[in-house]
Amino acid sequence: MKAAVYTKYGPPEVVSLAEVEKPTPKANEVLIKVHATTVNRTDCGFRSAVYFISRFFSGLFKPKYKILGNEFAGEIVSIGQSVKMFRTGDKVFGYNDTRFGAHAEFMIMPETGPIATIPESLSFSEAAPITEGGHYALCDIRAAKIKSGQDILINGATGAIGSAAVQIVKSLGARVTAVCSTGNVELVKALGADTVIDFTKEDFTRIDEKFDVVFDAVGKSSFAKCKPLLKKKGIYISTELGYLSQNPFLALITPLTGGKRVLFPIPTINQADVLYLKELVESGKYKPVIDRYYTLIQIVEAYQYVETGQKTGNVVVNVPIKDR
Ligand SMILES: NC(=O)c1ccc[n+]([C@@H]2O[C@H](COP(=O)([O-])OP(=O)(O)OC[C@H]3O[C@@H](n4cnc5c(N)ncnc54)[C@H](OP(=O)(O)O)[C@@H]3O)[C@@H](O)[C@H]2O)c1
Repeated sequence: MKAAVYTKYGPPEVVSLAEVEKPTPKANEVLIKVHATTVNRTDCGFRSAVYFISRFFSGLFKPKYKILGNEFAGEIVSIGQSVKMFRTGDKVFGYNDTRFGAHAEFMIMPETGPIATIPESLSFSEAAPITEGGHYALCDIRAAKIKSGQDILINGATGAIGSAAVQIVKSLGARVTAVCSTGNVELVKALGADTVIDFTKEDFTRIDEKFDVVFDAVGKSSFAKCKPLLKKKGIYISTELGYLSQNPFLALITPLTGGKRVLFPIPTINQADVLYLKELVESGKYKPVIDRYYTLIQIVEAYQYVETGQKTGNVVVNVPIKDR
């Protein structure tokens, strides 16, 4: 089969298309013909290994698993002998950041992993970007125990995580103040934000309002700068470590003060989370934003674009290779 392969850490150009062996599912696994995947910031993080910590999961000196791609949507083409939950022909989507493998014509998933059947009305390209930004947003929203009636500020409301966060927070009945640039104001309003701040015109850290949670989905701010925006026991969450890698440390010490605090939850995902995101999609409460499409042959360009840090929502890669 064809796959986008990388054998060393580095820039987008370390990835190239190659012919590799088609995987064989074990007893508890399904083999998926991948129709659509995404290139996202998780792929970029593991590919570049800029944050050294990622190497403890992906290999200290070189990648253990040579095919990236964590989000997938496709069709099950064979199943292991003990698989009970899925059948050949099922259209499925989900997430794998343990072994990755979705930047390929075929991949395997354990049947009890983060995988579910595709919501009825969705195409493969629409289903592929449901989980990456969605589960990061969900982890942070759950950690902060966001609930109906609260006031939440979301910075970076147009990223994969931010655009999912706006919709999920709204589905819980909280009020959202979203921060983005001029060109995305209408999009963010359409996602459900009650108030939108254009960061090119106004510094959100200086507004005269108080929030239960400030969720910086692009990690561009700091607790120090956002503290004045928080209510008495308000919570600050960022998707980045912070300019001095201070956020995990602040998450340990600020809860001891009994006042405003930082959370830095370790993201997790399981099948129940995928089913929850699927339910949100089916009930019209969550629709992943898609910026643009590439093909697997254009994977390096997809990486280059995602690494500009300017994608709006998600970048989908259609996998079937037609020119063969
Ligand atoms: N290391 C990892 O494994 C990993 C995995 C996932 C995510 N993350 C981190 O999580 C963060 C979010 O990821 P993502 O995929 O959701 O992001 P993304 O999609 O790459 O975010 C891009 C969006 O961020 C907005 N943005 C850029 N600069 C901004 C600023 N100064 N203020 C407000 N918005 C700004 C841009 O919107 P406008 O056009 O409106 O400016 C753009 O639409 C990133 O920092 C990423 O590195 C890391």
